[in-house]
Amino acid sequence: MEKYVIHGGKPLSGEVVIGGAKNAAVAILPATILAGGKCLIENLPCISDVMASLQILSELGAGIRMVTRNIYEIDTTNINSTEVSNELSRQMRASYYFLGALLGRFGSGQVAMPGGCNLGPRPIDQHLKAFTAFGAEDSVEYGQIRVKADHLVGSHVFFDTVSVGATMNAMLAAATAQGTTVLENVAREPHIVDLANFLNMMGADIHGAGTDVIKIHGVKQLHGCNYSIIPDQIEAGSYMVAAAITKGDVTLRNVTPKHLEPITAKLRAAGCEIEEFDDALRIRRTGNLHPLKVKTMPHPGFPTDMQPLMTTLLTLADGTSIVTEGIWENRFRYVDELLRMGANIQVDGQVAVIEGVRKLRPAPLRATDLRAGAAMIMAALSADGISEVDETIHIERGYENIVEKLQLLGADIRRVEAPRNAITRAI
Ligand code: EPZ
Repeated sequence: MEKYVIHGGKPLSGEVVIGGAKNAAVAILPATILAGGKCLIENLPCISDVMASLQILSELGAGIRMVTRNIYEIDTTNINSTEVSNELSRQMRASYYFLGALLGRFGSGQVAMPGGCNLGPRPIDQHLKAFTAFGAEDSVEYGQIRVKADHLVGSHVFFDTVSVGATMNAMLAAATAQGTTVLENVAREPHIVDLANFLNMMGADIHGAGTDVIKIHGVKQLHGCNYSIIPDQIEAGSYMVAAAITKGDVTLRNVTPKHLEPITAKLRAAGCEIEEFDDALRIRRTGNLHPLKVKTMPHPGFPTDMQPLMTTLLTLADGTSIVTEGIWENRFRYVDELLRMGANIQVDGQVAVIEGVRKLRPAPLRATDLRAGAAMIMAALSADGISEVDETIHIERGYENIVEKLQLLGADIRRVEAPRNAITRAI
């Protein structure tokens, strides 16, 4: 068990290089199964969710060769199993992408049925709706979900809710289904477009990704390719908040400013100065923070994964902010941690009302999930004095070298070994 010890109160400055997008990587890695050949994947973030995906591929029979820390060659020619082990699939929710990919290549796939998580219930009914429309049957036995089809036929699917996972899984299964598939009311996140681009590089015929209708002409077979994953929108947004909350001046390298627009717009409204370049962005804050109204929505709305970070920033605004969570039922659990730092936040269901305070005070903090964990780091960076962030395992699922990257920006943060339950809290 590790914890981070953070001596906050110092403005961050300098440059940070953003890694590849986690939520693209965890779909693109299973998608390599459809190639039945070699793919070279570049800009893979070195994070635990990616390592778990590579381990699953390896266990299924794929050859994995590390070229560098962020480039892997994956050879899926000799995959000889369609069942993801219970232990590995439970390590990572996104293991559900193996269902779509295995179904597309072999006509069957099995993973552990995902349960609820820290964010609230996480059903996969819309994933299954698409698979069923393509002619598959699903069954659940002893916690495992199995999908199976004699052959997949393209179909028209109207999703009842906008879902990133269901959109990606339907694309994976439909790429080689016979005939044409039309997916309506789909998600439009940058990682949806990235997966479509990757599948098209492998020979798929997919149009419309990035709009709310995707059309797929099924092809007989896909092939291997070389592909570089897009920069991570949420990692970039997290460092933008780090700069904003510490009154810093930070340049982000390897970003796509277009993908950051929903975040940039809100941070500008909060009083940050932001300059955009081709693949870089500079953010500075010199004045006070203005309060905001923020509601999370599917892309191009404000991303739910930035919500804990934005709420944390707004604890220091001059006035009252309102943050409404529009995607997940239970994404304000971290607020209790901020209250112990002196923040003034009232949560009623999906809405948080935040009265800005002048300063957050240091405290022992807990990462309740991945993005909440990142938000705790930002809170600690803003507070004068020493804070500790516990349960960092959540953070390392999605942020590559976060401690080292923050150190390069001048933060006083270090990892230390923490015996379980070593932190005593003032509650
Ligand atoms: C992805 O989760 C991301 N994870 C999440 O990021 C992100 O919060 C979420 O999209 C929304 O942007 C990955 O990409 C691995 P959804 P996903 O299906 O695909 C409901 C992070 O911090 N729904 O878009 O699982 C669901 O309950 C993580 O990086 C159904 O009702 O999310 C939710 O309310 C956390 N039925 C809403 O849709 C379904 O079949 C959106 O979920 C599927 C979803």
